[in-house]
Amino acid sequence: MNSLVRDIRETKVQAVTTADNFRSAMRSLAGGVSVVTVGRGNDLSGMTVTSVSSLSVEPAALIVSINRQASSWPLLQKHGVFGINILSADHVDVAERFSGIGGLKGAERFAGAEWISLASGVPLLADALAAFDCEVEHVVERHSHAIVIGRVLDLRVSPGKPALTYWQGQYIALDQNEDAARLADVSLPTARALWQV
Ligand SMILES: Cc1cc2nc3c(=O)[nH]c(=O)nc-3n(C[C@H](O)[C@H](O)[C@H](O)COP(=O)(O)O)c2cc1C
Repeated sequence: MNSLVRDIRETKVQAVTTADNFRSAMRSLAGGVSVVTVGRGNDLSGMTVTSVSSLSVEPAALIVSINRQASSWPLLQKHGVFGINILSADHVDVAERFSGIGGLKGAERFAGAEWISLASGVPLLADALAAFDCEVEHVVERHSHAIVIGRVLDLRVSPGKPALTYWQGQYIALDQNEDAARLADVSLPTARALWQV
């Protein structure tokens, strides 16, 4: 057996996977925070997510996983387009509004921030680190969620600010200037070691 891959029988596995211990284990996964935006006019909604990831570069496509109970889901299905807005550390209030804190619903979540629109017409956060205007290319409905593949129609970037991440149940700023050197210390030797195996 490859020495890097341990036999699962040798590891301490949790006897039973419950919703609680799964949720608790997933808190260990640090995620970049984004807001999905959907709808037109005043028929709007959106939600805070950490499930965005890049699918392919050519064509430019991304993936997001959306709970089918969320108010954004019917609007995403109805219009077939959506926005992905990558938040900066200045956007903790935006993240909280779009996670439904305080009972805010629909268009109310968009108050207090500046929005633009591109080809699809969905609102995009004007000062997002990056904002992607997407059309739905494919949806896989599985369990409680839908895995949505979005084809990127257009994008805007406003780099230079710390990123907003979520880890162990807390929002944490990832500052390029302060943290990049420390991250490089950790990641480069590890990456080099892996590339050389
Ligand atoms: C940091 C954070 C990350 C989240 N990530 C996701 C996600 O990836 N997918 C998802 O369906 N819900 C996610 N949620 C929950 C949604 O934001 C929340 O259920 C949604 O805004 C509720 O929407 P509704 O009131 O419009 O139904 C996340 C919440 C937080 C605070």
